[in-house]
Amino acid sequence: NWSMDDFIDQQIQKIRDTVGDKKVLLGLSGGVDSSVVGVLLHKAIGTQLTSIFVDHGLLRKNEANQVMDSLKGKFGLNIIQVDAQKRFLDKLAGVTDPEKKRKIIGNEFIQVFNDEATKLDGIDFLAQGTLYTDVIESGTSTAQTIKSHHNVGGLPEDMQFKLIEPLRTLFKDEVRELGEKLGMPHDLVWRQPFPGPGLGIRVIGEVTEEKLQIVRDSDWVLRDEIAKNGLDEKIWQYFTVLPGIRSVGVMGDGRTYDYTIGIRAVTSIDGMTADFAQIPWDVLQKISTRIVNEVAHVNRVVYDITSKPPATIEWE
Ligand code: XMP
Repeated sequence: NWSMDDFIDQQIQKIRDTVGDKKVLLGLSGGVDSSVVGVLLHKAIGTQLTSIFVDHGLLRKNEANQVMDSLKGKFGLNIIQVDAQKRFLDKLAGVTDPEKKRKIIGNEFIQVFNDEATKLDGIDFLAQGTLYTDVIESGTSTAQTIKSHHNVGGLPEDMQFKLIEPLRTLFKDEVRELGEKLGMPHDLVWRQPFPGPGLGIRVIGEVTEEKLQIVRDSDWVLRDEIAKNGLDEKIWQYFTVLPGIRSVGVMGDGRTYDYTIGIRAVTSIDGMTADFAQIPWDVLQKISTRIVNEVAHVNRVVYDITSKPPATIEWE
């Protein structure tokens, strides 16, 4: 009978067998998956693991600090923090196509890893938090690619690392169970999933610093209200998107012509299918009022009431 304890023992043995006395590099994204991989690998091979946390400028508010505090502070992982915001924004300038954006972000990630690996000297393996869902949706065999999740697709041909993907057979709920078994803090394990390309695919179309700021600030308000109302563990994912349309509003005596923010909140088991979350009206009202009051250049808030399928969870 399959149990998580057996899985941990098997994976640790497998990782040790595969890695031997070589060194492993891990890209920490701030999400649950790569964090769990980090703790699992640290348990298996200790100081042979070096983690790189790339701040690509597409993270949520305060995210970098939280990751560093818990994984470096509490768990003692060796983490190098790389500030690559400018690099990513330069590469994304003028790009509007979602799949192109994903490819650019994925490739840039690998570039940053390669640069760091060269500095570190003697890294053979790259660990990744690829889940079963990523494998299926990227259509690695014959299935058509739905979205090229950067964990799987978009790797350059000349990639110099061998991959280690210990979560490849797991669904999200199993990854969380694994995290709990590994003694990771509850709030870290129950963090909502966050895509590798981050806020880059929540600014629809071209990514600019100004638009990122609007998405980041509105997302912060949404997360704050969801947590205050005790909904954070009931909703699979909740975030804001900036579609880039502007509309007319009125504020005081004046007419405004500003951005619309979309709220996306879904319940799901594994991200493969999803229903829009039935957030109480009064909570939505509070969120809407706060976003318009607290986030500059937003005068309208809409709630996405489509399920997956036919929509996807992200808007890009
Ligand atoms: P969709 O939008 O395809 O999302 O319904 C399903 C789940 O996957 C996440 N997602 C991504 N994760 N790289 C990732 O690592 C990506 O490019 C990406 N696109 C979507 C999404 O947040 C949801 O949890």
